[in-house]
Amino acid sequence: MDGTSHTASGKTITITLDGTDRSVTLPIVDGTIGPSVADIRKLYNALGIFTFDPGYGATASCHSAITYIDGDEGVLLYRGYPIEQLAEHSTFLEVCYLLLNGELPKPDELSKFERGVMRHTMLHEQLRSFYNGFRRDAHPMAVMCGVVGAMSAFYNDGMNINDPNSRRISAFRLIAKMPTIAAWAHKYNAGQPFMYPRNDLGYAENFLYMFNAVPAETYKVNPILARAMDLILILHADHEQNASTSTVRLAGSTGANPFACIAAGIASLWGPAHGGANEAVLKMLSEIGHVREIPDFISKVKDKNSNVRLMGFGHRVYKNYDPRAKIMQRTCHEVLGELGIKDDPLLDLAMELEKIALDDPYFVERKLYPNVDFYSGIILKAMGFPTSMFTALFAVARTVGWISQWQEMMEDPEQRIGRPRQVYVGAPQRDYVPADKR
Ligand code: CMC
Repeated sequence: MDGTSHTASGKTITITLDGTDRSVTLPIVDGTIGPSVADIRKLYNALGIFTFDPGYGATASCHSAITYIDGDEGVLLYRGYPIEQLAEHSTFLEVCYLLLNGELPKPDELSKFERGVMRHTMLHEQLRSFYNGFRRDAHPMAVMCGVVGAMSAFYNDGMNINDPNSRRISAFRLIAKMPTIAAWAHKYNAGQPFMYPRNDLGYAENFLYMFNAVPAETYKVNPILARAMDLILILHADHEQNASTSTVRLAGSTGANPFACIAAGIASLWGPAHGGANEAVLKMLSEIGHVREIPDFISKVKDKNSNVRLMGFGHRVYKNYDPRAKIMQRTCHEVLGELGIKDDPLLDLAMELEKIALDDPYFVERKLYPNVDFYSGIILKAMGFPTSMFTALFAVARTVGWISQWQEMMEDPEQRIGRPRQVYVGAPQRDYVPADKR
C-alpha cells in the first residue's frame, strides 16, 4: 500500500493498494469544528482491506451534535456552550435540558422540565427488595448495575424504543431515579433506612438529602454544598464518545432497551482508567501518605515495569489541562473553606504532586495533565462521601449524557448495529484431532 494522497479539493482521499492498479477515492467529511474524517465505508468493497485502530484513537464512530472537545486547547463545549460558562451560570437540570434538546430552555420550558424530571424520582416499591439481595458491603457500582438493569422489568410502558415519547419518558425516569438508586446503595452499605426523595428540593439538594438524612432527625441541606454538588454533576454530564458512552451506543445499536444500555454504561464506567479514577486517586494519595514520599512514587510511575500510574493524570483526548480539572480545583478550595477544613493533608499532597508532575519531563513530554478526577475525589471526601460512592456519583451525572447520546443514535438514519471487524491472527483452518492423537 503506498499510503494516501489528498485530491486538490482536499475533500477526498485516494488510497492505492501497492503492486496493484486498485485504488479507491473516499470522501472527506467535515464537522462544524474539529478534524475532518475520511469516510472509509467503501474501502473494504473496493480494496478488500479493513482499517486497524485498537482503542479507536483515530476513528469517528458517529455524527454527533452534543459535545465537542478540543484536546490540544483544553476546550469542552456542551451543544456549543463552553463548560466554564455553564459551570458559572447554569444548573444541572438546565444542562440536562440542553444536552437532551440541543438548546437552552426558556424559563417556562425549564420549570416544566424540572417538574417533569422531579416527578419521576421515586423507585417502584418492589425495586427496594432488590437491595436486600446484595451483601451489605456491596460496591455501590455493583448495586447500580443491577438495579438500573432491573428497571427494564418495571417500566414496560417506556420500552418502545421507536416511539419518541416513550424514549423521552425513559430519559426522565433514568435521570430522575439515578440519585435515588445511588443514595440507597449508600444507605444499604451504612445500614440506615432508605430516605424517599423530596421533590420540593432541587436535584442536587435532593440527592444530598437522600444521602445524608435519617428519619430520626431534621436535615437541612447546606446550600453551598448543594451548589458544589450541582457543579460536579454539570462537569461530568457528558464527554462525547468516551468508553462508557460508546458502550451505551453499542448496546443501543442492537435495539436493547434504554435501561439495559445504561446498565452497560455503568459497568464500563466502573474501571479505574475511566470513572473509577476518582476513587483510585484517593487510594493513591493515601498510599503515598506524605509529601516526602512523592519523589519515590514518581520514580515508580516512570518505571515501565512497575505498572504504577499517576491516577487523575492523562487523558486520551486532552493533551492540555482538562478544563473541568481547573473548575474542580477552584471548587475544592471553596468546599474545604465552607466546611472549615483549613489544612487538608490530602489536598496539600495533591497540590504538591501536581506541581512536581507538571514540571517533570516525563509528564511534560507525554502531555499528561491533571484530569477531572484529580480533584473531584478530594471534594467528595470532604463532603462526607465514602470513596466507594465516587464513581456512583459520576454515573448519576453521566446518565444524561448517555441517554442524550442514545437518543441521538436512535434518531440517526445512518444508525446500524455496531459490529467492528478484526485482524485474525489465530490458527488457519485445520482438521479436528481425535483425543488419542493429540
Ligand atoms: N501516569 C503515568 N504515565 C501515563 C499516565 C499516567 N496517568 N497516563 C499515560 N501515561 C503514559 C503511558 O505510559 C504512555 O507512555 P509511553 O508512551 O512511554 O508508553 C503515554 O503516557 C501514553 O499513554 P496511553 O496509555 O497511550 O494513553 P491513553 O490515551 O491510552 O490513556 C488514560 C488515557 C486516561 C487511560 C491514561 O492517561 C491513564 O491511565 N490515566 C490514569 C487514569 C485516569 O486518571 N483516568 C481518568 C480519565 S478522565 C475521566 C474519564 O474520562 O473517565
